[in-house]
Amino acid sequence: MKGALPETIAFDIYGTLVDTHGLIAMLRCHAGDNAPQFSQLWRQKQLEYSFRRGLMRQYRDFGVCTAEALQYACLSFGVSLTEDETFVLLDAYRALPIFEDVTEGLGNARDAGFHLYAFSNGKAADIRQLLDHAEISQYFIDIISVDEVQSFKPDPLVYHHFLEKAAAKAENAWMVSANPFDVIGAVSAGMKSAWVQRSQEVIMDPWEIGPTVVIQCLSGLAEAITSRREA
Ligand code: 2OP
Repeated sequence: MKGALPETIAFDIYGTLVDTHGLIAMLRCHAGDNAPQFSQLWRQKQLEYSFRRGLMRQYRDFGVCTAEALQYACLSFGVSLTEDETFVLLDAYRALPIFEDVTEGLGNARDAGFHLYAFSNGKAADIRQLLDHAEISQYFIDIISVDEVQSFKPDPLVYHHFLEKAAAKAENAWMVSANPFDVIGAVSAGMKSAWVQRSQEVIMDPWEIGPTVVIQCLSGLAEAITSRREA
């Protein structure tokens, strides 16, 4: 990146670096064979609650959305958890596993001279715990959380907050996310975006706004961004 301004990368966390379906083995103890569907509903409701709370201006932090979504999934599947069991699951959510391409992808991006930030709906303390547990904290300059402005992705406010806090210009900043709503939200707010499409089954929303680049795994991120800027 000689002779050019370093570009800033905001890495989404849940669903992009950490696998939100990494607790299926634990969920089997409670939901049996329905554990994969239980996990899907838990994640779906967690995001829905964040969207709704953002729109309604009824902010509670992402941990609350996660806990309330877990309750919903339990009601939906007829699962009854004790307080201790709930605590154990929510605690495990702060130690979710990372996807296997993450460490190489972060290393490549850092070595290519990009400035790396974690940028999430999650509270900074929860994100710190996830990154420490996965031993990837050292790749990031800082953790920037929507909690600081009390709203959620894809409110443009949170992307503008990211840019301000990272002291980056929108045209020089990339959102890297596997979540289509996050990709579209960041581009709509003026940033560039790399969509991580790990599976062909995940579909981008057919909107007039889309990702700047699409990658199949994080290992190819640095090259995709570099090629794009040289094109
Ligand atoms: C995150 O902000 C959107 O869940 C996603 O980490």
